[in-house]
Amino acid sequence: MESLLRRGDVVTVIDDLSTGFEANLEHARRSAGARLRFVHATVSEAERRSDLDAFDRVYHLAAAVGVRRVMQRPLDSLEVNVLETSAAIRMAQRTGARTIIASSSEVYGKSTRLPLNESDDVVYGPTSVTRWSYGCSKALDEFMALAAHRTAGLPVVVVRLFNTVGPRQVGRWGMVLPRFIASARANQPLEVHGDGMQSRCFADVRDVVRGIEQLLEVEAAQGGVFNVGSDRTIGIRALAELVIRRTASRSTIALQTYESAFGAGFEDLRARQPDLTRIRGLIGFDATIALEQTIDDIGAWLDAVSHKEHAA
Ligand SMILES: NC(=O)c1ccc[n+]([C@@H]2O[C@H](COP(=O)([O-])OP(=O)(O)OC[C@H]3O[C@@H](n4cnc5c(N)ncnc54)[C@H](O)[C@@H]3O)[C@@H](O)[C@H]2O)c1
Repeated sequence: MESLLRRGDVVTVIDDLSTGFEANLEHARRSAGARLRFVHATVSEAERRSDLDAFDRVYHLAAAVGVRRVMQRPLDSLEVNVLETSAAIRMAQRTGARTIIASSSEVYGKSTRLPLNESDDVVYGPTSVTRWSYGCSKALDEFMALAAHRTAGLPVVVVRLFNTVGPRQVGRWGMVLPRFIASARANQPLEVHGDGMQSRCFADVRDVVRGIEQLLEVEAAQGGVFNVGSDRTIGIRALAELVIRRTASRSTIALQTYESAFGAGFEDLRARQPDLTRIRGLIGFDATIALEQTIDDIGAWLDAVSHKEHAA
């Protein structure tokens, strides 16, 4: 949103604030004035409004996000991820807007062939295991988007986002980096699930936003699926150690079983790394912001927020 405003666009943010915060718009509001409009609504409520149909770009990011949330509220999460994406696609179809559908690396399910390529087969666990429903709901979103492209010519691009991090992300729904940083700043133990040897790739949200924006402007991307993220891997225990170092914390690391964190039968993936050949080939994308920098920036943002809270 801020990046679109910087380039001079008029932006309407539609968000039901189920996990988002209106305060995150404050800064942009001050500089963009009337070029930024906020509509407090679900996507399907917005679809029913007649004053919201003049878009030439749609970035559909709204979703039930985070493993913890999906585990706690599985039906609600499925409905949001499938029905609201369906509504977003219908809205975009009214004007034939260029559209981004945000998908997730969770779509790869249990795939173990690394790096994960957009053309790979995907493998899920049984439907009795709630954890797989998030990936399946995102896969359905992809099917709907690609069908709208094939049957109605919607200029849509699907982006499979890998771990995306940066200031303003909160740890409440299980996101690992903000959770670690909050614990480290409070000198509390950092809870690492399993043996901590599982690895992920973290990209700064500013890099990811740049990649998404560029993809949307390239005609050859339409009707395509693209991994977006960083391909530099880090183990989760190593991530915890890095956070402790960068925040000069006195915290220790506490290993926690998956069972106690998520309940019996939870299956995690040992590694997840995107193959970025496709996006590199099309727009020359690379994630450039180092994880150390992102951790420092999250810390600076938390300092600013807590100053404000204390001043209030
Ligand atoms: N952050 C990541 O690491 C990551 C990784 C993979 C995929 N993604 C995808 O990227 C997108 C954005 O994720 P994020 O990390 O910014 O999460 P986020 O929670 O910050 O953003 C999602 C927003 O959607 C809003 N929302 C939820 N349901 C809604 C509804 N029915 N109508 C309107 N608004 C609704 C929430 O209030 C929130 O502001 C999501 O689609 C997510 O699945 C994120």
